[in-house]
Amino acid sequence: MAITNVDLGERSYPIFIEPASLNQKDKLAPYIHGNQAMIVTNETIAPLYLDALQAALPFTADVVILPDGEAYKDLEHFNQILTALIEKRHSRKTTLIALGGGVVGDMTGFAAAAYQRGVNFIQVPTTLLSQVDSSVGGKTGVNHPLGKNMIGAFKQPQAVLIDPHVFRTLPERELSAGMAEVIKYGLIYDADFFAWLEANAAKMMALDLDACIYAIQRACEIKAEVVAKDETEQGIRAWLNLGHTFGHAIEAHMGYGQWLHGEAVAAGTMQALDLSKRLGWIDQTVIDRTQALFEICKLPVKPPAMTRDEFLKYMAVDKKVIDGTLRLVLLEQLGKATVTADFSAAQLNATLDETIA
Ligand code: NAD
Ligand code: GLY
Repeated sequence: MAITNVDLGERSYPIFIEPASLNQKDKLAPYIHGNQAMIVTNETIAPLYLDALQAALPFTADVVILPDGEAYKDLEHFNQILTALIEKRHSRKTTLIALGGGVVGDMTGFAAAAYQRGVNFIQVPTTLLSQVDSSVGGKTGVNHPLGKNMIGAFKQPQAVLIDPHVFRTLPERELSAGMAEVIKYGLIYDADFFAWLEANAAKMMALDLDACIYAIQRACEIKAEVVAKDETEQGIRAWLNLGHTFGHAIEAHMGYGQWLHGEAVAAGTMQALDLSKRLGWIDQTVIDRTQALFEICKLPVKPPAMTRDEFLKYMAVDKKVIDGTLRLVLLEQLGKATVTADFSAAQLNATLDETIA
């Protein structure tokens, strides 16, 4: 079993990475205090894993089953979790357990931040994307029709339990979407890991367990290191958003759930690399290698048919805009990102015009 620690002083927590851990009796017991807990999951995941998780808990938890999809990551369904907690008379000692992908995890974490000004929560992520990214680091929230993840809070979990066996039921398109975030870590932080992925991404797509565990662990280590340095994204944490400003524009324009988050991030990353090259920071080989890796993972490398103005409209409400200035995460070199406003409108326009399908 691999354990990575997220080092945040008294709010530190472990990430357990272990096949079949979801079924392991009382694995989560040390992180559940008192005699109340609520599992939040969705209608797709509940029939697959809810019984196993319930059986592994020290007592039977209450359950909220949300509809499945990014389109339901909104205030209305967030409120459904709060209503259930109040109706079932949960106290501030309760523990929320997120069983699902990033949508369930982000909403459950936000409910844990808000309910009675904050209760404990545990992440049991069931997609590759949520295992390597969204379950770690404490960003929680919901979408607003005018912008993605616009409403939320920082709220760290008490523990993260990662069981790679859940990939057996995960649609391949979702596995691909998770690979976009895995590849991101190589691009922004670890050129050796990027090279390892070039050699092993195909094995991961074939669900080779050792390859999946190694990649999840390395991704979680990098995420934990970045979050420990900059929990509330004053600096280096923003690197984790490589490709996301472009990607969020794609997701919002197309309608949440049409393009998966990871798919939009892949296409957006190609746009961020194009601009990085225009600034003279990286050469074409980095772009070609990244495109080849995305293609192994069956990810899109070009955005959908959108106009430049459509991109710019959504990019203008990105959370990295400060005082009206758009800042983007770009690559200084393979393995090192930067957050910068040091590009001209003409350079950004050229990237948009060049990369739009
Ligand atoms: P998701 O939660 O929508 O899950 C993808 C799909 O797979 C859903 O239909 C889900 O029901 C299904 N599913 C999940 N696990 C399954 C399994 N084991 N077997 C079969 N089906 C399964 O999507 P996601 O990619 O996990 O997460 C995307 C969300 O995460 C977005 O809302 C994004 O904004 C958010 N996110 C948050 C952070 C963060 O730091 N908090 C980071 C990255 C992404
Ligand atoms: N997924 C970006 C972050 O956690 O900061």
